Amino acid sequence: MTETLTIPRPDDWHLHLRDGAMLRAVLPESARHFGRAIVMPNLVPPVVTGAEAAAYRERIMAALPDGSGFRPLMTLYLTEETDPRDVEMAARTGLVQAVKLYPAGATTNSQSGVRDFDKVTGVLETMAQIGLPLCVHGEVTDPAVDIFDREAAFIDRVLDPLRRRIPGLKVVMEHITTKVGVDYVAAGGAAIGGTITVHHLVLNRNHLLAGGIRPHYYCLPVVKREEHRLALRKAATSGDPSFFLGTDSAPHTDPAKLQPCGCAGCFTATNALAVLAHVFDEDGALDRLAGFASEHGPAFYGLPVAEETITLEKIPAACPPAIETGDGPVTVFDPGFAPAWRVRP
Ligand code: DOR
Ligand code: ZN
Repeated sequence: MTETLTIPRPDDWHLHLRDGAMLRAVLPESARHFGRAIVMPNLVPPVVTGAEAAAYRERIMAALPDGSGFRPLMTLYLTEETDPRDVEMAARTGLVQAVKLYPAGATTNSQSGVRDFDKVTGVLETMAQIGLPLCVHGEVTDPAVDIFDREAAFIDRVLDPLRRRIPGLKVVMEHITTKVGVDYVAAGGAAIGGTITVHHLVLNRNHLLAGGIRPHYYCLPVVKREEHRLALRKAATSGDPSFFLGTDSAPHTDPAKLQPCGCAGCFTATNALAVLAHVFDEDGALDRLAGFASEHGPAFYGLPVAEETITLEKIPAACPPAIETGDGPVTVFDPGFAPAWRVRP
């Protein structure tokens, strides 16, 4: 008999949906399996104000397939000019679930992010008062710091001092990629959570760089050594409620990735749950998949766990190598193995 696993419908606590033709192409890939997603605000121009988030939410809702119950959870892009009153209003009306901190220059469309962290203290204090989480891209941008060390340096230089200054602030350290990140989140109590992507559970830097460079495995924070990947696997499958799924599914067209200077991002929305079930099965942790994918995230954000369920079944299913978008093809993440699981259609 086919092995199956029924879990509350998962949520994606870190997702890039983009806009326009790209949004219309990628949104159904997430909406097919996920109930909700924290939607990243790094559009061009970025989603900075409550009004901009409301308009973006409308565009997402209009692009949803008929009958879809998927709900976007909106975020604001933190700038040095962000008005704390606008943030408070957007949070109090329920429009916005988090604010996103991009250190300026750290990643795709982060130019409008924060250079001087002192300049955002007022906003962060307001967020601490109202319980609105800060989602953090945790990498320093100092060119003197090696790209493989930027997460650890961020914790030391930026995140830890900031959390000591504003202890009431709820923080999500997003897409953690190192054992240092895992240990920091695990030791931080209820005020800090960490999201983990599917691709960081599967890839180490050899996959990216050994035997040829693989642009479709290039993302930020960049994949690290095997010991770090193993630490992420252990954290994700541990049952520790500090860790939850944030795919960071980040579509770029193939022409944009396959360049002398290609974009960062892995597009995983299509097969994220199949690959994740495979990983948890491999680690003998299927009983902890519901926690990681469906329960820990809502608990951190103070939202209910989904009442609906999905069923995973141990049946290998082919996944399209790419999806077509109005802007060009977007390659779907290839985990390097055929996932033994699929989401029951
Ligand atoms: O790989 C990434 N892609 N990391 C990010 O932080 C941003 C994202 C994107 O927007 O493409
Ligand atoms: Zn991201």
